[in-house]
Amino acid sequence: MLLLHLNDVNEASWAEAFAKALHPYPVVGRGDDFDSADIRYVFVWKPKPDAFDGLTGLEAVLSLGAGVDALIKHPKLPDAPLVRFVDSDLSQRMSDYVVAHVTMHHRVYTRFRADQKARRWSQFYPPSAAESTVGIMGMGVLGQDAARRLAPLGFTLRSWSRTRKEVEGVACFAGDEDLDAFLSGTDILVNLLPLTPETTGILNYENFAKLRRGNLQGGPVIINAARGGHQREADIVKALADGTLGAASLDVFEQEPLPQESPLWDIENCYITPHIAAISDEKSGVRYFSKIIADHRAGKPLINVVDRNRGY
Ligand code: NDP
Ligand code: OXD
Repeated sequence: MLLLHLNDVNEASWAEAFAKALHPYPVVGRGDDFDSADIRYVFVWKPKPDAFDGLTGLEAVLSLGAGVDALIKHPKLPDAPLVRFVDSDLSQRMSDYVVAHVTMHHRVYTRFRADQKARRWSQFYPPSAAESTVGIMGMGVLGQDAARRLAPLGFTLRSWSRTRKEVEGVACFAGDEDLDAFLSGTDILVNLLPLTPETTGILNYENFAKLRRGNLQGGPVIINAARGGHQREADIVKALADGTLGAASLDVFEQEPLPQESPLWDIENCYITPHIAAISDEKSGVRYFSKIIADHRAGKPLINVVDRNRGY
């Protein structure tokens, strides 16, 4: 039996779609009558403290989110394998966000928008895409997809990951020892890392100061579509004010929703979206997790299982 435990998402709608896709395998929501010991799979998003209580027969925890940082911290997370969402639809949506913000900053949108507001005719030609380097932090499922979609646009690409990658057309850096070299050649920094103790606070003033200067007019840019815990917001405010950063696109925040009193709201060169870079779409999610459950019932191994020691 599959149990859905989804908060801030339409649980009933997902349950109906799962019931259709998995029929005759039983699917229940929290409001239904069921015996907790019969649950083999629990599908979760923002689980409450009691989410896993009584689930003694659990075979896997399924995460609606691609990022599992919050789930891993759940005090009662069972020992069962944890499967995260990995899907071409999610990757496409994230790359849509990344490409939109990279191209916007590459064409120095902040400057031309300010010129327009001031009715100022001031010609300036941004460097070509090839002369601009996009550095992707996190070269996993989403980072690699973003690189694949940025490459045909002509950008010079580099990446940074924990273990070294070999990706055609991308200069690949890896490990703490390569971080400074990676940053020093980056004009537009895209963060697609998972949130772990090692990556917490990595978007900080010290690292912003290491980005390449003089190439992108106004200063280097950061784009954070991963987790708010990666960024030090006070450092971003300072860096945007003193020119250490030319602009920032932020989809995620230390506290969500972003508090009304946050200074980020009012900063001209800060582009805020409310954690919408890539949604786990119901249709794709149901297709993906239904197949995982069906395959697992048929004796096949689970895929995309989180390594709890690594934290992602
Ligand atoms: P993956 O696990 O596929 O990739 C993670 C990448 O980060 C890997 O390349 C990994 O290196 C690298 N990495 C991990 N730790 C370190 C480290 N300490 N130093 C350097 N590199 C490191 O994750 P996804 O691509 O699927 O997702 C990334 C994140 O995107 C998610 O964790 C989630 O937080 C966020 N996200 C945000 C969404 C939004 O709407 N804003 C939507 C979906 C996801 P290696 O390859 O060597 O293991
Ligand atoms: C995710 C997210 O991790 O939506 O999937 O942030």
